[in-house]
Amino acid sequence: MSADNATPIPTDQEFQLFQQLIQQKLGIFLPVQKKALLSNRLWKRLQACDLKGFGEYYRFIQSPQGRGELSTALELITTNETYFFREQKHFDYLQDEILPNYRPGHSFRVWSAASSTGEEPYSIAMVLKDRCNCDWELLCSDVNRTVVEQAKIGIYPDMRVRNIPPEYLRRFCRKGVGPQTGNVRVIAELRQAVQFFTLNLHEDFPDLGKFDLVFLRNVLIYFENDNKTKILERIADKLNPGGILFVGHSESLHGISNRFVPVKPAIYRLVGR
Ligand SMILES: C[S@@+](CC[C@H](N)C(=O)[O-])C[C@H]1O[C@@H](n2cnc3c(N)ncnc32)[C@H](O)[C@@H]1O
Repeated sequence: MSADNATPIPTDQEFQLFQQLIQQKLGIFLPVQKKALLSNRLWKRLQACDLKGFGEYYRFIQSPQGRGELSTALELITTNETYFFREQKHFDYLQDEILPNYRPGHSFRVWSAASSTGEEPYSIAMVLKDRCNCDWELLCSDVNRTVVEQAKIGIYPDMRVRNIPPEYLRRFCRKGVGPQTGNVRVIAELRQAVQFFTLNLHEDFPDLGKFDLVFLRNVLIYFENDNKTKILERIADKLNPGGILFVGHSESLHGISNRFVPVKPAIYRLVGR
């Protein structure tokens, strides 16, 4: 059962087992066209666990001894692509439309709810540090523990910081020396201003308080409509009246949630209750 001699492909039945497990644990729907993706991402783990096929690996990760391996497998399934100042229009809107009109009664609270390796939250933090005249809080979460840990460290190769505006790069990042040559680190002041934690959007949320702005970008695409609706319902409950939601530019809430009205492409406002 292999596409080439190196990477075996799961049978239809094996793929279905993984599909159901991933949907149950993460809410992510993996269509059958993603069979090769599943295979590419998990094959090394089968080898590391010294297991022959996907059926055996599935049984292992479902067993009590395989619990740690289950977390590893689920993390490998997530797609963590991100970059600094991705979808620049959102940062322009934050800077030009939201912050100048914000009337402080409490600190301005932002949540980056699929924060990946930290490029999105640090981009937000740079804008807040530069432009927000009141206290602010920035919470950042992702289901993938490994990317959350990377985000906390805040070290990125030079190539990855190209999109940071030069002034922000000067103010908020430091070039690595010695073994860190070729890397850049976000300054401690900014790292410490951001709270990182793991959170699964597919489960009930803990008490995080209410937010003025939520970034939920490039993650809804991985869910089927009924799960999207449930996530958006929970996000809506976490927003202050008039709160704003940013989604990815290829994502739309049309026909998915009636809790939001569109403001601009990929920008929504909570409908008052
Ligand atoms: C493509 S990245 C998007 C990162 C960033 N928001 C951006 O737009 O650049 C998607 C992120 O969603 C996370 N994710 C996937 N399923 C999730 C879930 N059920 N709960 C929380 N995060 C999830 C992944 O781990 C990944 O880091």
